[in-house]
Amino acid sequence: MMAKRKRRNLRPARTERQYPPVEAGLLSPTRRVPATIARPPYAQSGQPPPSTSALVRTPTELAAMRRTGAAAAGILMQAGTLAKPGVTTDAIDRLVHELAIEAGSYPSPLNYRGFPKSVCTSVNEVICHGIPDSRPLRDGDIINIDVTIYREGVHGDTSATFLVGDVDPESVELVKVTLESLDLAIAALRPPAMVRDIGRAIEAHAQKYRLGVVREFIGHGVGTEFHSNLQIPHCYDRRLSIPIEQGTTFTVEPMLTLGSPQPAVWDDDWTAVTIDGSRSAQFEHTLVLGENGAEPLTVTETGECAHEMVRATIKDLGYTIQDLGYTIKDLGFSTD
Ligand code: MF3
Ligand code: CO
Ligand code: CO
Repeated sequence: MMAKRKRRNLRPARTERQYPPVEAGLLSPTRRVPATIARPPYAQSGQPPPSTSALVRTPTELAAMRRTGAAAAGILMQAGTLAKPGVTTDAIDRLVHELAIEAGSYPSPLNYRGFPKSVCTSVNEVICHGIPDSRPLRDGDIINIDVTIYREGVHGDTSATFLVGDVDPESVELVKVTLESLDLAIAALRPPAMVRDIGRAIEAHAQKYRLGVVREFIGHGVGTEFHSNLQIPHCYDRRLSIPIEQGTTFTVEPMLTLGSPQPAVWDDDWTAVTIDGSRSAQFEHTLVLGENGAEPLTVTETGECAHEMVRATIKDLGYTIQDLGYTIKDLGFSTD
């Protein structure tokens, strides 16, 4: 029996700034990976074998995940520098593909369940799994770039949402609160950690800003497999009193929306958009649960990641956590 949920109003669509919906562009030819690069099991057929991997990593696997995670973080940072007006998502795919190979890794999305490109690029109302194509980024867009690479037998999976040029304040707030919700989820994971701690932190923060949380796409165990059996919902569910064992590697990747969090999938069978066309943002880290809490593995050796690039951009715009709080009250909604 589902716990009775309070209905909470989401934001109405804003009228000041209207954006045309994202439209699919054209796909470039399939990119090649040199034969010298070790491939994950699905690379040829497109079908990952049924998940059999342990949730907890061996010390050797964990060391590999730190190196692969660091490489993925560096690639995402470089990809983020392309989030500028006029750059096509295909150009981002080309860069990620080339950097992955340069790092001796396989770009995990390529042919994963038939995905045609090497990275996911999700613009504006695209929630996730956007396919890079000939669409140039426009001033005011937001774009999530989701990089996963496979090296030394393990995957590193990380994403960030970047601001393209001059972005409206509501979208900046969406991006900011989404990043904060990931940070709060990570901070909530103090042993003895449970799966539901993650959704609780994310959903509480989103609700404070009247943002939606997407339920249909979730975080996952990651390691020797791209997606293992461990499921990590981003909404609170008290039944998820599932302990996370130390040494478990998994992602947290909340997707928050300005309006309805309900997805619809394009007939390319991948691109997930909000049904109401409202914008969606996402941030993702691959984490390991250690004795002192959850530690991001998708950071460079010096601890840097694209999330800090985005945080710096938002700070430069002069936003602080309280600044946009007014939008909630000014919309005149009751709070429950
Ligand atoms: N990187 C995505 C995730 O966070 C998965 C992309 S699957 C793909 O789980 F096939 F679309 F690449
Ligand atoms: Co993921
Ligand atoms: Co990802």
